[in-house]
Amino acid sequence: MCGIVAYIGNENAYPVLMEGLKRLEYRGYDSAGIAISNENLKIYKKKGKVTDLEDSIDSELFGKIGIGHTRWATHGEPNDNNAHPHLSGDGKIVLVHNGIIENHETLKQALIKLGHKFQSDTDTEVLVHLIEEYKTTNNISLEDAIQLALQKVIGAYAIVVYSTDEPDLIIGAKKSSPLVLGLGDDEMFFASDAFPILKYTNKVIYLEDEQVAVIKSNGDYYIRDIYNNIVNPNIKELALTLELIEKAGYEHYMLKEIFQQPTTLTESIRGRYHPVEGWVMVGGLQKYIKKISNTDKIIIISSGTSWHAGLIGEYLIEDLARIPVEVEYSSEFRYRNPIINENNIVIAISQSGETADTLAALELAKAKSATTYGIVNVVGSAISRITDSGSYTHAGPEIGVASTKAFTSQLAVLTLIALHLAVEKGTIPRSYLMQLLAEMETLPDLISKVLEDNDKIKFVASEIKDSTNALYLGRGYNFPVALEGALKLKEISYIHAEGYPAAEMKHGPIALIDENMPVIVIATNKSAYSKIVSNVQEIKARKGKVISIVTEGDKKIKELSDYVIEIPYIAEPLSPILSVIPLQLLAYHIAVMRGCNVDQPRNLAKSVTVE
Ligand code: G6P
Repeated sequence: MCGIVAYIGNENAYPVLMEGLKRLEYRGYDSAGIAISNENLKIYKKKGKVTDLEDSIDSELFGKIGIGHTRWATHGEPNDNNAHPHLSGDGKIVLVHNGIIENHETLKQALIKLGHKFQSDTDTEVLVHLIEEYKTTNNISLEDAIQLALQKVIGAYAIVVYSTDEPDLIIGAKKSSPLVLGLGDDEMFFASDAFPILKYTNKVIYLEDEQVAVIKSNGDYYIRDIYNNIVNPNIKELALTLELIEKAGYEHYMLKEIFQQPTTLTESIRGRYHPVEGWVMVGGLQKYIKKISNTDKIIIISSGTSWHAGLIGEYLIEDLARIPVEVEYSSEFRYRNPIINENNIVIAISQSGETADTLAALELAKAKSATTYGIVNVVGSAISRITDSGSYTHAGPEIGVASTKAFTSQLAVLTLIALHLAVEKGTIPRSYLMQLLAEMETLPDLISKVLEDNDKIKFVASEIKDSTNALYLGRGYNFPVALEGALKLKEISYIHAEGYPAAEMKHGPIALIDENMPVIVIATNKSAYSKIVSNVQEIKARKGKVISIVTEGDKKIKELSDYVIEIPYIAEPLSPILSVIPLQLLAYHIAVMRGCNVDQPRNLAKSVTVE
């Protein structure tokens, strides 16, 4: 949901901004813009990708101060005019923004009465005019004006502001949307995340809500809050390296991230269990283990792919640890007056750790005194900071908009949480625990084995790439995998796809099946095997094209299917981690064959920091 980058120092800001914006494009990519100052202020804005902006600028610009923005439109369609940066009426103040100013309409009407004229349809432009209004009528500094303006604002913001009246500084501030300050040698940065900064420094400060940071060209900086209280900065050293955020020879980030899964899964489970000694220890759980194992309800909140992980988490925790679990979309939970009390545990699952709905749902859970737990990938992100405890998934930076490695890492962590609780509650026989831990140990190798079928999956993709619809079916642990497979296909190939519990097919989707409908059946479960065989027969009877994901050695479903992808045997609770991989690859290849932008699918953004 919009990316921000800003530079002040002794070097040329232009390449820093352009490279930084490209690294931030996963956050939004419908328009981009920069402002560069070299005695006078120049602004360039363009609908489209950062490369469109770059192409529209004749030659490399020069200026030692600059701010840039890549947009995911909320208010006002994506066009040159609505692109950021936005300018004050007097042309002196320039601002970029990530978030939504909810009371922008009221503020705008008041500003219009005071004579302000607006050029765009955005909520952001209101903010720059409000800052201008405070600055000129009170004759105060840019910093003071920003503080006053932000006291009036309702909503979410990460902003960076520059004024030609105070040409040696840039100011950044945030609430709900992220903003990182980078501390270089005689140069300073702001960015929505550390990716654009990484090349120049590994020292950063993650700003907290309602903090306002002033950075100067000589490397000085200070932070206050919007009420002018001094804030002591908490400087962090980044563990990230540039290598981790490059494509590493892969054509797309998504493909790289799919193929990274043997490694990322190893990282997710490392040190959290012992297959021979037979113990499981998820660090974050320990502090609340009594409370969690005795709770009468765990509620999992999340969105998108993370919600699918949550559904599998429900199967895992109920099956293994016998604790009741509810899974909710964060966006529904936060507005539906849920029944929740101080005995409940609310687990938020989020790759980015900054999804606005999940953050708001967590705030609600905290207000009702529930214990909150985060399963988060991005270290130091908002959700990891506001939860009582949690576990990182350690999948490393995920840049492709369609989530892949983050999902399998979430599943690995959820499995270990369920096993840890099961041991604590005594709900799992020792022999079964030992079996699952031993199989957990083999998972990275088994993932590699599934990935070896890439060419075969690519062939299946070529056979169904022109479909307009697709149906994904699964049962038990693999029903949420069907949902995830359908989501992947929709997201990146724009083919309409639905995931369904296999047996529910009879209650609707069966009406859609004809010879043009590919039906992807995840049929690895032993427990419901004969039932899935019947489901496949029902599809074949209606001439549907069956693509089945089966366990190696399967005979019956193989015979009935048009195309078969085999995965190695694994116990059912662990099976989603393997069965989802062919579906990720299938969606990937179909999208590439259809000429879609795999890493930046239309209308989507990786990090949804608005409602
Ligand atoms: C967006 C992304 C999805 C992601 C969802 C939830 O829709 O495109 O890939 O699953 O947000 O994000 P989170 O960061 O909370 O897991």
